[in-house]
Parts: sequence; structure tokens; C-alpha cells
Amino acid sequence: MSDYKYSIEAKSVNKVFYKKSLAVDALINFSIKIKKGTIHGLLGPNGAGKSTFINILGGLVKKNSGKVNICGINIDENIKLSKFKIGIVPQELNIDPFFSPAELLELQAGLYGVPKKKRKTEEILENLKLTDQRNAYARTLSGGMRRRLLIGKALVHDPEIIILDEPTAGVDIEIRSSIWRYIKRISKEGKTICLTTHYLEEAENLCDNISIINFGKKIIEGSKNDLLKIISTKSVAFVLVDAIKIPDDLREFDPVLTNNVLELKYDKNKTNIKNIIDKLNKNKIEFKEINTNEGDLEDVFKKVVKSNDTTI
Ligand SMILES: Nc1ncnc2c1ncn2[C@@H]1O[C@H](COP(=O)(O)OP(=O)(O)OP(=O)(O)O)[C@@H](O)[C@H]1O
Ligand SMILES: [Mg+2]
Repeated sequence: MSDYKYSIEAKSVNKVFYKKSLAVDALINFSIKIKKGTIHGLLGPNGAGKSTFINILGGLVKKNSGKVNICGINIDENIKLSKFKIGIVPQELNIDPFFSPAELLELQAGLYGVPKKKRKTEEILENLKLTDQRNAYARTLSGGMRRRLLIGKALVHDPEIIILDEPTAGVDIEIRSSIWRYIKRISKEGKTICLTTHYLEEAENLCDNISIINFGKKIIEGSKNDLLKIISTKSVAFVLVDAIKIPDDLREFDPVLTNNVLELKYDKNKTNIKNIIDKLNKNKIEFKEINTNEGDLEDVFKKVVKSNDTTI
């Protein structure tokens, strides 16, 4: 096992599913390296292959080819040991309805062979705000409580890597931010986190690095900041004092005038707001407010996924 730099290291992984006689390439030469202690986001449209990859890591889906190491352990050589290194929070809310949260956590710990003295059932329930529900039937839990319980189940054996497949799908804003806080906390404790999400705001808030997947292929990867740099188009909106006719020398900024708001787009590598304001002054256009839009991960996602779609 020795020392390892990457908690998860996958190389040229392929997975084909057969739906009736139709072959579906869920992963095509998929490679990824996730550094120890980081939070890594897997983004991609529905059916991109995210859950397939996660399920391969957990030994739930068998890959057709490629190599996967978890904490330096090749999963083909020692799936039992590699499974101990990860805790997976699945996308589906599949919980045995007849057990209580406390019982489910105890059962799960038993499955992993965690001795009674070392179990952290109460601590996990407390951290996930489920203490009040500790003895309730799981079937009486709300969707958000179930999701938190699934997170708890993934933590019972104190794994080094936590994998969360859509951790906040269908939870309310308050629970979402408490899950975010919890993810950040376990990350600070040194755990490696890999998560999938459709909420780009979530990826922006949590992830150090991001991979975007489409049709089973990785289309882009980098630090959050690097990805944000891809978007060089910014927009700026001026709230005008008086009605105007758009002068010709603003045409290059793709101007849109709605009521008294003038919106202009510009390439941040070519010009800046100061130059634009100079042009407004030159045309004697007065404004009382400026709003800028930096471009966010959603813009990056749309850009790379869209350009990928047209090439396929
Ligand atoms: N057990 C299976 N049998 C057949 N096809 C499958 C199976 N699991 C996944 N697939 C197919 O593999 C592809 C990738 O699916 P996957 O669940 O990995 O996508 P995903 O990125 O997790 O999507 P989502 O965002 O909707 O959760 C899809 O075309 C899906 O229909
Ligand atoms: Mg999925």
C-alpha cells in the first residue's frame, strides 16, 4: 500500500452496459486523480457516467477495463481492503424502513466489524442532527433526514475517503447549508471527499477541483479557479439617468437596453470597465448605478457541455 499522494487514481476505465441488445458506453477511457485531503466535484448532465464511476469505486459495478487505486490499493487485487477505505453515500434514498437511525448505524458498524467500544453512533447522530430521531422508524423520516442518515451510514467505519452522490438533492436550504458545513468539517479533519452534484453553486462553494463529464468522457478538469478563468466574457449593467439612443461606438459590446438599464458584454482579456465608462462619458451618457456579472461555474458548465454536445 505504502505512501500515496492520490486517494483515488483511475486510469483508462471503460464500462459498457447492455440494455437489451443495445450497448451503452457509460465510461470511456476515464482517468482521474484525486489528491489526498481535497474536495473533488464530478459534474455532468444526467447519464454522464458519474454514478457509474462511483459505483465502480465501491465495488458495486464491475468495470470492463482500466485500473483503479484507492489509497494506493488496486481494487482488482484487494476489493475488501479498498472498500474499507471509502464510505459511499448513494444517490438513491434506499434505507431499510423498519430500523431506527440508531439501529441502522449500529448494524452498519457491525457489518464493517467495528468493535462496540469504537462505534460512534451517538456522535454521528448528533453531528447530523438526528438525535431526536434516533429511535424513530426510518420510514417515518423526511427526505432530508434520510439523506443525512445515509451520510451517517457512510461514516461508521471512519473511512479515509467519503464519496457523496448528490448529497443535497431534494433537501431544503437550511439542511443543505448544514450538510455543506459538515462536508467542510470532515474535509478539514483530513478526509478526501468526492461528490457529484447538479447544483453548480454547491460545487463552487465546496470543491477545490472539478471534473466535468459528458457521455462517459472527461471533457475538462482543473481547480475551480482555473475553470472560472475559461469564462472571459463579463457583463456590466448601467442604470441610466435619462433615456438614450445607443451610440454606434457601443455596438461592439452587444448592447441591450431595457427600460433605463443598459447591459454591455465585454471580453475581460481585451478591455475593462474603465474603458467602457470612458466611452459612456464621451457620449454624455449618465448613470447612477453599475452592476457587474463575473461569470460563474454555471457559465463554464454551459460552455463546455454545449461545445461537447455539438461535436458528438
Ligand atoms: N445498471 C445499468 N444498466 C444499464 N445501463 C445503465 C446502468 N447504470 C447506468 N446505466 C447507463 O449508463 C449511463 C451513465 O449512467 P450514470 O447513472 O452513471 O449517470 P449519472 O452521471 O450518474 O447521471 P445522473 O446525473 O442522472 O445521476 C446512462 O446512459 C445510464 O442509462
Ligand atoms: Mg447519478
